[in-house]
Amino acid sequence: MPPSSLRRPARSLRARLASKTCLVGILTNGTKDASAPFGSRTSLLRDILSVAHAPIVAFAFTPKDVQWSTRTVVGTFALPDGQWHRSRVPLPDVVYNRIAHRDADHSPAMIALKTRFLRLRVPFFNWCFFRKSDIIRKLATDAVVGAHIPDTVIDPRPSSLHHLLRTYRTVYVKPSSGSLGKGIVRVSQTNKGYTLRLRSGGQNVMRTVPTINRLWHVLTRNHAQMRGTIVQQGIRLMTVEDQPVDFRVHLVRDEKNNWAIGGIGAKKAGKGSITTHIRNGGTLLTPEFALWSAFGDKSERLFNELKRTSIAISERIAHHSRHHIAELGLDIGIDAQQRLWMFEANAKPGRSIFKHPALKEDGKRTTALLFAHCAHIARLRKRRAPR
Ligand SMILES: Nc1ncnc2c1ncn2[C@@H]1O[C@H](COP(=O)(O)OP(=O)(O)O)[C@@H](O)[C@H]1O
Ligand SMILES: [Mg+2]
Repeated sequence: MPPSSLRRPARSLRARLASKTCLVGILTNGTKDASAPFGSRTSLLRDILSVAHAPIVAFAFTPKDVQWSTRTVVGTFALPDGQWHRSRVPLPDVVYNRIAHRDADHSPAMIALKTRFLRLRVPFFNWCFFRKSDIIRKLATDAVVGAHIPDTVIDPRPSSLHHLLRTYRTVYVKPSSGSLGKGIVRVSQTNKGYTLRLRSGGQNVMRTVPTINRLWHVLTRNHAQMRGTIVQQGIRLMTVEDQPVDFRVHLVRDEKNNWAIGGIGAKKAGKGSITTHIRNGGTLLTPEFALWSAFGDKSERLFNELKRTSIAISERIAHHSRHHIAELGLDIGIDAQQRLWMFEANAKPGRSIFKHPALKEDGKRTTALLFAHCAHIARLRKRRAPR
């Protein structure tokens, strides 16, 4: 990093940036490795940054890069030759929050940083990771999309777990703040008692316990306690080649502030896996192929319904949120009766669906839409409160 670029006064840089330029800062966690400045997220950030073009100038930054006294930040720019370049620039016009870890995202220091941006009226999205229980609380009774939320008990007791098992025979026990399928247990009531399936040490594990008391004991040992946990009606997902399939719908807001479908991936569960995650043996399919395999000539109608419902759910999540939300990754299942169910809304969706050759272009288009949205919210802000 040339020291001169760091010493360059921010004001002259701002003057050199065209007045229509929109500086988008992607907030993330850093590492000390200069060749991979953002650790395992380096290539994700490069993919995102490489889509930016005029009027967007995009860079990544970490909390440590911000200097409030001069209202500047040392941004890390992705150069076309694959190098990274750090340069001091004015505070971004918009902050796109990609802090990767829940604890970091919720830490008091991070909340203070976010609040400071808000006070300066710098548009900031998404505020933080979601908890499954919060989203369910908001949506389960929502008149528009509530019917798509599986029956769920938050922080269950033995009696509510028992009740849900008697009603649905299969339930999913999930940590509210979990991801990647970690800590999820599927429980089914059988005539021998209760069968638990979970992933442990990279293996799909199964065990049976005779009574609800034993089940409670085993589950609370797995989860330490049942607080911070949800128990959810198990949905019998549509299948492709006898394996359950669900969908990741990646949505962003566009330049008119409307929600748009960025891309949809279908995920087929690995053999014996209770979730469809690719890292647990799942396979990524195109939604067209998966829906056609499962539903034949009804697939086009279902595909449209999947898109419509995802947009409706995103609108309702945004409606119930105090902060601006501009990107979502929804996990949605379709059952054999062709009903749609939302399992989870992710506020920091990964981009692994866009690795599928048929979805690569969707990945770029999604980022371009999001940048257009950034330009839109920056314009609105400048109109309201010129700096
Ligand atoms: N209630 C449910 N019924 C059927 N399958 C479910 C249910 N909840 C979760 N799953 C399966 O487990 C996967 C992971 O669940 P999810 O709620 O998205 O948690 P995570 O945060 O670990 O991704 C889903 O994509 C789906 O395949
Ligand atoms: Mg999920």
